[in-house]
Amino acid sequence: MRTQTALQVVGRGAATVIECPVPVPSQLDVLVRISAVALNPIDSKLLYGAITPPIPTRLGCDFAGVIEVVGESVTRDLKIGDRVAGMVQGGNTLRPDDGAFAESVVAPAHAIIKLPDVVPFEQGAALATPVFIAALYLFKVLGLPWPDHTGISVLSTQVLIYGGGTATGAMAIQLAKLAGLHVITTCSRQSSDLVLRCGANAVFDYNDIDWAKKVRTATKDHLAYVIDCISNEASAASCAIAIGTPGGKYLSCTVRGPEIARNNIVTLKPVGFTVLGREFTIGSDERRFAVVEADGEFVQAFIPITERLLKEGKISVFPIECHYGLIRIPEGLQALYQGQIRGVRLVYRL
Ligand SMILES: NC(=O)c1ccc[n+]([C@@H]2O[C@H](COP(=O)([O-])OP(=O)(O)OC[C@H]3O[C@@H](n4cnc5c(N)ncnc54)[C@H](OP(=O)(O)O)[C@@H]3O)[C@@H](O)[C@H]2O)c1
Repeated sequence: MRTQTALQVVGRGAATVIECPVPVPSQLDVLVRISAVALNPIDSKLLYGAITPPIPTRLGCDFAGVIEVVGESVTRDLKIGDRVAGMVQGGNTLRPDDGAFAESVVAPAHAIIKLPDVVPFEQGAALATPVFIAALYLFKVLGLPWPDHTGISVLSTQVLIYGGGTATGAMAIQLAKLAGLHVITTCSRQSSDLVLRCGANAVFDYNDIDWAKKVRTATKDHLAYVIDCISNEASAASCAIAIGTPGGKYLSCTVRGPEIARNNIVTLKPVGFTVLGREFTIGSDERRFAVVEADGEFVQAFIPITERLLKEGKISVFPIECHYGLIRIPEGLQALYQGQIRGVRLVYRL
């Protein structure tokens, strides 16, 4: 039996590097030898937050590396030695070995992105979750048109991305622009250059107490689509002010996020892990999320677009800060949980 090292959750705020078997892929999976992983807020919330830590599981969602095994029933053009990026769900008590904070990981083949040679593993590690989630939010949940294959803008629907300075928000801005949408975003002054580089049409500082009223005026009282990449009481309340009189859709990025109490605004709370096509829990929470076939199909259909946009240099990964080794990950997760990490994603080379 081949073994590897992996980071295992052993208690609240406690994770340790263990020796464990290399996981075996099922017929529709691939086994990836990991070169780099990136931290996500959910990893830090599972280890340090209010959610009961999922013991014993591995954390980690985003990874990049090289394919070592391709499952027998995989029909996609994936082969041993391919450089790839992907997303799994760390902390899923139904599949405790799934986390990416390990030397290798089993991942569903339908959710694997082939990395162009120009994208190093460190950047590839920070790619999958933002691109899958931003695409799911815009094109599946809100039902907006997909990025235009010809590069010509097709419409000018207005969308507000609250928190354009997050990795999810920055990717959503880029994809929305490629789809020909008119993108309004909020961020701090420190992130304004980043969101402008991503293509935002209009940027508002969320520290300005009047930002929502200004958005309502700028959008001529017709804003109908909002993605809230922060989803706390304050962001939800402000987004409710920004949405025009005819109403619209408010998408919260967390299941526990607040609802908007305006009867012509629909609050949506999608959970992105549905794209993986596996049943799951979030941490030790008893609620089970069922497989949503359509979300897996959506992400599979979106991957060729992602690969093309990457190759053509039309989408960029969020800025990264590189570190080394599984053992250092818990301190990175703690800093992330404490809100000390802004404007970069922490990446760990293995
Ligand atoms: N539902 C799902 O499936 C799913 C999937 C992925 C992520 N998420 C959730 O989405 C959220 C964002 O994740 P992420 O990885 O994209 O975030 P991230 O990259 O870690 O976000 C960091 C950035 O957030 C911005 N920020 C901090 N406080 C803010 C505030 N009050 N208002 C506006 N911006 C603020 C800061 O930029 P500034 O310089 O602008 O302050 C900071 O650089 C997390 O809650 C995460 O759990 C959900």
